[in-house]
Order: sequence, then C-alpha cells, then structure tokens
Amino acid sequence: MASRTYTLPALEYDYKYLEPYMSEEQLTIHHQKHHQAYVSGANALLEKLDKAHTDGSDVDVKAICKELSWQIGGHMLHSLFWLNLKIEEAPASGELAAKLNADFGNLDQFKKEFTKAAVGVEGSGWAALALCPMTDRLLIMQIEKHNVNVFPGYPILLVLDVFEHAYYIDYKNDRAKYVDAFWNICGWGAAATRLAQAQNALKAMDSR
Ligand SMILES: [Fe+2]
Repeated sequence: MASRTYTLPALEYDYKYLEPYMSEEQLTIHHQKHHQAYVSGANALLEKLDKAHTDGSDVDVKAICKELSWQIGGHMLHSLFWLNLKIEEAPASGELAAKLNADFGNLDQFKKEFTKAAVGVEGSGWAALALCPMTDRLLIMQIEKHNVNVFPGYPILLVLDVFEHAYYIDYKNDRAKYVDAFWNICGWGAAATRLAQAQNALKAMDSR
C-alpha cells in the first residue's frame, strides 16, 4: 500500500556523479536540504489536515491549498529532476528524437527553445518538456515557482530546475551558464521512457 505521507527519494547515483557540471556540494545540499524541505513541508500540512479531520478544529483551507500546491509541486518536480540527470548521455534517439524533430523541427531548435524557457523563467521555477494528451504534441512549459503556468494533466518528460538554489554554489548567479552545462547531464533516456509510458497510458485510455 502506498505511503500516506511523502518521502525524499534516494538518488540513483552518488553525489559526485554529475561532476564537473554539478558539484558534490551543490547536489548534496539541493537534495538533502532543499528537496527535503518540500517533503517535510507537505507532510506537516497533511498532519495539520489529519488533525483537523479528527478533532474538528478549524482549518484555513485557502491557505493550506496554496501552500500544499507549492510543497507538493516542489517535491514532484524534484523527484522527476533527479531521474532525468545522467552524465554525458547520447542525444535523444528513437521515438523521442522523431517527436522532437516533428514538433520542434530538429533537436537543436528544441534545445534552443528549452534553454530560452529555462533562462527566462521569471524569478524561480522550471523548464519542462511535456506531452499534450489531446494533440500528441510535445510542448515546453515555463513553470514559475513549482506550480504556476502548469498545463494540468500533461505528462512531464523532462525538467530543469532553475531555482537559484539549484546552481548558486557552482555558478553563483549565472543561470545561463548553469543551463548551458545542463545539456551535458541531460538524461534523454529517462525522457524517452516517460514518453513511451505516457503514450501507452493514453492508448490504454483510448481503447476503453
Ligand atoms: Fe530545486
């Protein structure tokens, strides 16, 4: 049975694995402190809700909904992010490459647009590649914070964290340099797997 609370996922690699593009110190703090904070924050809110549902105490529903969206968004996106980091992986191939070519013209054009989306996020946020379940098109989302400008229900294939906490140790305030370095640790394989899973899920829904 699924846990009733959120848990920080362990990384599938050690903290030095992404060097020199992401340092051990940067990755350790990002994972153990920043990501953990979203997990703890979401669980604290769930505890507050559970208490209210047990003892009937009053809850500020509006405030809790807003904060849960922030904490859960942060947890879910970081969980995807760790999985789509891989050192020097070969560029996209197979179905993912075919779709990137079909929907963006070519891989370089996709990388250019994704880079612009990431560098241009206002304040803190994410760039994400998602699949539109209605048109089967790949689209880029420029997510602000963890939960603004999100296309609801679009499976996310690839994300890049551009909160300053993701790069301040390694790149200071130079987000563009960090985004440029990301292309050396972009896990195309994870994106291809997620694309296949999303397409299979959509086919299963269509056949019902
Ligand atoms: Fe982050």
